[in-house]
Amino acid sequence: MANTVLITGGAGFVGRHLARSLLEQGHRVRALDSLIEQVHPTGARPDELDPEVELVVGDIRDEDRVRAALQGVDKVVHLAAEVGVGQSMYAIDRYTSVNDYGTAVLFQQLIDQPVQRVVVASSMSIYGEGLYRTEDGDLRQEVVRGARNPDGSWDPTDDQGRALIPVPTPETKSPALKSVYAINKFVQERLTLTLTAQYGMESCALRLWNIYGPGQALSNPYTGVLAIFASRIANGQSPMVFEDGRQRRDFVHVSDVARAFLLALEKPDANGQVFNIGSGEDRTVEDVARLQAASMGRPDIEPLITNKARAGDIRHNIPDLTKAREELGYESRQDFAAGLEELAEWVARQEAQDRVDQARGELERRGLVA
Ligand code: UD1
Repeated sequence: MANTVLITGGAGFVGRHLARSLLEQGHRVRALDSLIEQVHPTGARPDELDPEVELVVGDIRDEDRVRAALQGVDKVVHLAAEVGVGQSMYAIDRYTSVNDYGTAVLFQQLIDQPVQRVVVASSMSIYGEGLYRTEDGDLRQEVVRGARNPDGSWDPTDDQGRALIPVPTPETKSPALKSVYAINKFVQERLTLTLTAQYGMESCALRLWNIYGPGQALSNPYTGVLAIFASRIANGQSPMVFEDGRQRRDFVHVSDVARAFLLALEKPDANGQVFNIGSGEDRTVEDVARLQAASMGRPDIEPLITNKARAGDIRHNIPDLTKAREELGYESRQDFAAGLEELAEWVARQEAQDRVDQARGELERRGLVA
């Protein structure tokens, strides 16, 4: 059945892809977006936002705009958020205001104009360190990342000083909130699940891993690492890699994420649930930097390993996707190498302003890179 879906933050990277998928399925889409300068430098409606999308320009904290945006809506996807883990550690008031107060304003309005279902973008950041095992095979749930090890390595260790080995993290792992961003995302998730149940709506939270793909804000120095690296490489600069570059992440293509949201909006059994969403393949940040330079025709550009850590970062986190597969029917489809090629082609058509040095300076001045 065709629905009217409101996507908060719908003019952003994920929102635009999701909007297109929803339109293809015959739904009507409205986007509420404040077009912040860090993501939308010109402040204009992005060309990549499908012309069929009705855009309401407004802040998620503005109750009048939110009320207007909710008129006649059947379902909501809540994406509006500040998204930089490093930046959240100093822009505390802004992050908490947009992410948590913004979600509160949305729900205040949803009490008067309820919808069938709300799907919120949560994050793998809420787990803190992922699940690990020791060399002997014992699982470790509550790993806390300390300072760098005396031998210069970065991996969390067991009590005998042996590196712990990351294993896929299931939704049952308890949260360990290590950054303002993680705290914000957990609050968003809990507000959504708690309030929808209270007010007769349905909901679902997707705990997303690292999203990449065409359309990610290239000139935003606090965007995802692949967009940052793309902008560096396009400008002939080395990608700057934190720590030793061996930290592991799961990079999931935005088209897979859009499909996960479609499933989360539709599947009856998804109500009240949280799901990990990733690609099912993990890799190190250094490997990704090399693969990306090669995919952009610059295999000569070597990553610069900084041996410094960014405040709030976790070491390793990779998803267990069993629940998403079995209960949501989610499978990742995008091949990573092909995804990088597609990203490289898109980047070649853009003008990427490299503002990474400036952003790093900001973090360093505040003692947030050490
Ligand atoms: C990202 C998202 C966050 C999302 C989370 C889910 C952004 C800005 N943040 O956070 O919204 O919830 O994924 O997984 O998209 N790194 C470098 N050099 C750089 C930048 C980053 O080495 O120039 C490293 C970081 O130290 C980290 C890794 O790359 O180890 C990933 O960083 P980043 O892309 O910022 O992702 P998350 O912090 O995981």
